[in-house]
Amino acid sequence: MAEAENFYQNFFASLVDGVLVISADLRVTKVNQAAEEIFQRSRSSFEGESLSKLFPDQPNLIDKARQSITTSASYHHVEGIGYNKSTNGRFPVNLTFSPFMKGDHKNTAGIILIQDTSLLKELQENSQQTENLSTLSILTTGMAHEIRNPLSGIRGSAQLLLKELKNNDHRKYMEIVIEEVDRINRLIKKMINLTHPILNDFKPTNIHEVLEEIITLEKETLKKKEGTFVQIYDPSIPTIKANKDELKQVFLNLVKNAVEASSKGGRVQISTQYNNNYTFREKQNTLSQHNIVIKITDYGLGMDNSTMKKLFTPFFSTKKRGTGLGMAVSLKIIENHNGTIKVTSEKNIGTVIQVFLPIHK
Ligand SMILES: Nc1ncnc2c1ncn2[C@@H]1O[C@H](COP(=O)(O)OP(=O)(O)OP(=O)(O)O)[C@@H](O)[C@H]1O
Ligand SMILES: [Mg+2]
Repeated sequence: MAEAENFYQNFFASLVDGVLVISADLRVTKVNQAAEEIFQRSRSSFEGESLSKLFPDQPNLIDKARQSITTSASYHHVEGIGYNKSTNGRFPVNLTFSPFMKGDHKNTAGIILIQDTSLLKELQENSQQTENLSTLSILTTGMAHEIRNPLSGIRGSAQLLLKELKNNDHRKYMEIVIEEVDRINRLIKKMINLTHPILNDFKPTNIHEVLEEIITLEKETLKKKEGTFVQIYDPSIPTIKANKDELKQVFLNLVKNAVEASSKGGRVQISTQYNNNYTFREKQNTLSQHNIVIKITDYGLGMDNSTMKKLFTPFFSTKKRGTGLGMAVSLKIIENHNGTIKVTSEKNIGTVIQVFLPIHK
């Protein structure tokens, strides 16, 4: 008997989905470890908690819980919003309600299975955005060649003219022509990057080396704003299989954005972490169990919800001279490395960009 009890205890604890056992008055009587992780609170704090506190303002959901106990009905795939008391945050969940059949066939309790769908939703949104790129790809590849050739002609002629010009005003105009041609060239290069099929030419890459090279490039710009970089590197990170040039592009885009968003004296923190613990285990289907996280934090402009929604959309930019391709290109490259990008931001507080990359054992 004790063995059977032990088996069920282990079974309960090992379930990847969260489980809440609730009483007839819709209060929590038992939770498993996954539920603790999903709501980020301890087992004891759940005890006696009313269901409407965990899923506030959702009377239809509370009704389903009640009905599953009183009428023995079950309900699958009910979408809801969970409440995280410690962060005062909300997260999307997928719920299954079942009556808890006891030995005497009387229902006095219910079971709720909970899946946290935050990461899934985010990944779905991101991949939808990358799909939009395929139409763009046909357009840009053709366009890029047509535009680049005359551009190099314009640039060459402008440079020759610049040499001849003596009048300072005229020289300035010609310099603007060259600058703008260079800008179009950079834009086209980014468009090609975004839409070209990437070669999977992956080699062992030291991520800290990549980051240091980028920081060297961006240090001066941040210094002009009297800001500094802070690096917190996890020395246990192994090399990863990656295309170094592409990763450099990604981190240049992300660090540039952080520097551009920083105000005077702003700090930009770059940290790395080797993850092989449970935190990501139950939340992911696509991420490898062993992954590294590179986190870029700035304390600058931040973003409101509408900017966040468009962040990865090609050509979306709030900057005067932005191409709006930095994030779209970065996401494409990271997804090609089987990783993902996660963003949290708050207007006027700052932004945290997390890049997850798998480690192939
Ligand atoms: N760290 C950040 N803080 C605040 N806003 C950001 C940050 N990163 C990106 N954004 C917002 O997302 C938009 C899109 O970023 P993205 O890098 O794709 O293009 P961009 O920076 O505008 O142009 P480009 O990268 O070509 O210079 C930015 O214009 C900005 O509004
Ligand atoms: Mg950018």
